[in-house]
Amino acid sequence: MVDHLSSEPVQAELYDAFNSGVRDFGFYLPLVMSARSVLDVGCGTGELLRLARESGHTGRLCGLDPSEPMLEQARRKRTDAEWVLGDMGSVDWCREFDLVVMTGHAFQVFVEDEQLRESLAAIRSALTEDGRFAFETRNPLAREWEKWIPENAVEVVHECRRVRMAHKVESPVAGDRVSFTTTFTSPGWIRPLQSHSTLRFLDADSLASFLSEANLAIEEQFGDWDRQKLTDTSPEIITVARRA
Ligand SMILES: C[S@@+](CC[C@H](N)C(=O)[O-])C[C@H]1O[C@@H](n2cnc3c(N)ncnc32)[C@H](O)[C@@H]1O
Repeated sequence: MVDHLSSEPVQAELYDAFNSGVRDFGFYLPLVMSARSVLDVGCGTGELLRLARESGHTGRLCGLDPSEPMLEQARRKRTDAEWVLGDMGSVDWCREFDLVVMTGHAFQVFVEDEQLRESLAAIRSALTEDGRFAFETRNPLAREWEKWIPENAVEVVHECRRVRMAHKVESPVAGDRVSFTTTFTSPGWIRPLQSHSTLRFLDADSLASFLSEANLAIEEQFGDWDRQKLTDTSPEIITVARRA
């Protein structure tokens, strides 16, 4: 039986099991492999950088995340990458990275305008002169949060136990912010574990103005991982930007 006070360590331990087979690494890994120095902001359990090292990347790989339990998972995987605890407000990198990525919709954690502006400014500073910033955010027009209902819960087997993860969105949705709870249950636990999150769903125009204000120019934009054109019905807004 487990009786954790916080869901964070358990969520970090289960993260890879619930997110395996996500299609975004097919897009990001080639970008990472062709860059000498890479910063992964909101790196979580470090899966992308682990894959890069295992695929033969010999340059600098640095993962940044404010969650210690997530970084603990990353450190267990590789000791030959830098794992930094914090966010873009707590670091001071200047023209050091050829590529900055934010994967797994980590970009959507920037909920407040000021936080978004400061993070984009710090990301720009971290980029080398020719550096690229690649990230994705869910297209609000696709309204993916409408599928985040308990009926769509998913299950994995972790350490021989079934664990179920269910989302429930708080309604009404407030502007471009979606708040939701995630509940984990398992027959081996004495109680469910719950976390609360808010994500921002910026539309393409708002995203473009935040990037332009931060002196970042959009170089390429796609609507899905197969690099199809961004349209109103695209599930993703995938952006590669550079210093303007
Ligand atoms: C959905 S996970 C994505 C993890 C990983 N990038 C992936 O592709 O699987 C979002 C991550 O963003 C991190 N995060 C939360 N707030 C953040 C912030 N202000 N700056 C950077 N990362 C943050 C979380 O701790 C979490 O690890």
